[in-house]
Amino acid sequence: MHEDNDDWPPSGDGVALTPQQDLGDQDVETTLRPRKLSEFVGQARVREQLELVLHGALKRGEQPDHVLFSGPPGLGKTSLSMIMATELGASIRVTSGPALERPGDLAAMLSNLAEGDVLFIDEIHRIARPAEEMLYLAMEDYRVDIVVGKGPGATSIPLELAPFTLVGATTRSGALTGPLRDRFGFTAHMEFYSAAELELVVRRSAGILGVELRDDGATEIARRSRGTPRIANRLLRRVRDFAEVRADGVVDREVARAALAVYDVDEMGLDRLDRAVLAALVKSFHGGPVGISTLAVAVGEEPSTVEEVCEPYLVRAGMIARTPRGRVATVAAWQHVGLTPPEHAPGEAQTDLFAE
Ligand SMILES: Nc1ncnc2c1ncn2[C@@H]1O[C@H](COP(=O)(O)OP(=O)(O)O)[C@@H](O)[C@H]1O
Ligand SMILES: [Mg+2]
Repeated sequence: MHEDNDDWPPSGDGVALTPQQDLGDQDVETTLRPRKLSEFVGQARVREQLELVLHGALKRGEQPDHVLFSGPPGLGKTSLSMIMATELGASIRVTSGPALERPGDLAAMLSNLAEGDVLFIDEIHRIARPAEEMLYLAMEDYRVDIVVGKGPGATSIPLELAPFTLVGATTRSGALTGPLRDRFGFTAHMEFYSAAELELVVRRSAGILGVELRDDGATEIARRSRGTPRIANRLLRRVRDFAEVRADGVVDREVARAALAVYDVDEMGLDRLDRAVLAALVKSFHGGPVGISTLAVAVGEEPSTVEEVCEPYLVRAGMIARTPRGRVATVAAWQHVGLTPPEHAPGEAQTDLFAE
């Protein structure tokens, strides 16, 4: 299992195109994080549904249902969770699955909640089993049973909790157990962003950071951002550096292209690992089908990283097809690697998915 991101991004030069947060992102992400639902770009369906869930509950004076956000990293799950609390006028407590190793950790967290609070559990699929079981009752009845003592003499003391809303985020909703998933009243799956939406993200960020960004510069950054706002913001910062050092500070198409060439970001925004996966699939496995773990070994990465981070985007971009027998390279993948696709390769020639 991919336990943490210490070894991430893979060493080497260039800009990290990985959608996971890196240290350089933290401060600036706080600055760039949308604060209100109205500032949150894209995900129109999720926004509309969430608005109904929240405002319906507010109108009835009830505690809103527990909410689960799922989707690849960098698409706005944490941002939306924070926004939810703001919209509800509630305080938010933040923790994560890996931090809740013992049920006691969770019990402490839960018993400290005040009425109406939002409890945000990031990476909720990594919560330890005993803590997860405690969560069932907490979510359902606002109650936990604290077990005191061991063996036959152990007794459990029920503890009432203040009504709260749990917000979970996960990059792997498939890894959640059924009982946990069932206890969320609303599950939102975050989709990759269109180029047009990413342009709005980049423009907004440029405004906040005081970067002079031309329309064609925004377009160029957006289409290479892998459908991911976190990457769009990161590329904007790298392009800004280039613009300030090598040009007059203004970001237009030429400057963006030149900068992204320096950072080895390709036309489709694929990063080193994406390209390695495609190259292995096409060259070592003749286009597949091949299982995800075999593919991961071939590129020297954790299967979970290839599955949760690379694959969703490569599938979305029409480069990889999932079949019951494994992953298969599409025509577009063969072409991206610079080879002629064999006749049996699925899909049609497609070079620029995000051009509009
Ligand atoms: N819909 C959005 N509109 C504007 N900016 C966004 C949006 N989604 C994400 N971002 C930007 O991307 C960054 C990463 O988003 P985050 O919520 O941390 O993603 P996740 O939790 O899904 O990994 C945020 O700090 C914000 O700057
Ligand atoms: Mg997050």
